[in-house]
Amino acid sequence: MLKDHLLNWCRNEFEKSNAGFCDCSCNNKEYCHHDCQECLNQVHWYPTHGGRSDYDCPNLLLNYVLHYTDCYSQQISEALKLVDISRYPYYNIFSIGCGAAPDLMAFEDAVDEDQDIYYKGYDRNPLWEPIHDRIDEYTSQTAHIETKLCREDIFDVFAEGKPAHKQYNIVIIQYLLSHLYNNGQYVSTCQLFQHIIHNIIVNRPKNSPFLIIITDIDSCHKGRSKWHVFLDMLEEAGCCGQAYARSTYPQGDLGQDRWRDWPHMQSPSYGNISYEYLQIHSGAAQLIIELE
Ligand SMILES: C[S@@+](CC[C@H](N)C(=O)[O-])C[C@H]1O[C@@H](n2cnc3c(N)ncnc32)[C@H](O)[C@@H]1O
Repeated sequence: MLKDHLLNWCRNEFEKSNAGFCDCSCNNKEYCHHDCQECLNQVHWYPTHGGRSDYDCPNLLLNYVLHYTDCYSQQISEALKLVDISRYPYYNIFSIGCGAAPDLMAFEDAVDEDQDIYYKGYDRNPLWEPIHDRIDEYTSQTAHIETKLCREDIFDVFAEGKPAHKQYNIVIIQYLLSHLYNNGQYVSTCQLFQHIIHNIIVNRPKNSPFLIIITDIDSCHKGRSKWHVFLDMLEEAGCCGQAYARSTYPQGDLGQDRWRDWPHMQSPSYGNISYEYLQIHSGAAQLIIELE
């Protein structure tokens, strides 16, 4: 399985590396505590802990993959249990800020070997390249999975009008929105939703439902409070379906009552996507939207 293949490789590379013994070439000297977990905390809570705002160290990426892959692929597996994936004739996945593709690992687990998975992953960080190469190496030997992993900024990709030809029926946004939030790109979240509608959903295949999974930190201080706007935007664009909101906080922006903008509440399309709240206590929030 992809997960074992990649984790084995990352473990080996990490052991061979100088992680924990960074030398004068370290690009975070002032804040480096010779502990990759500390550097990860700096990125994930930036700017609270000072230091790094991005995963700009190869050892840090290896550590990230080793530390989070199991948990993050499991989160996608949990989301997939809420939908009937046998209704999908194929799985054309568009993953934004894909990193090491823990979402693909969950699909590999959930999907029968006679069903095709096409996975297009975009991540702007060029340091993912060796890890992406290992993923490509694995999938090139796996008959029913094809991957195309690109180190490009998603906003540039959408600005170029992509994806122009390929039709997708699944979009995954996993731990990207908190990263945008930490880096002051919070306002870009709605722009991203708009692009997904205009560049992907309007061109969706007719013979399949359309699945969107957003997973991220369950905190209104990490960008979660913008997610509900996506439902309004989808309804305004003429979409119908169902949404499942999972969060620890029933009174929150992803809670029992669907949050929506006042003008949208007056729109005839309001409510075309049904909304169900499911409480979880995993530390992650999820918005799972299935369009008919
Ligand atoms: C926290 S990581 C999540 C990686 C992966 N989705 C996961 O769940 O493990 C966030 C990723 O989003 C990428 N990213 C941030 N802004 C981006 C953008 N504008 N376009 C593409 N990728 C972006 C970062 O480089 C980083 O790899």
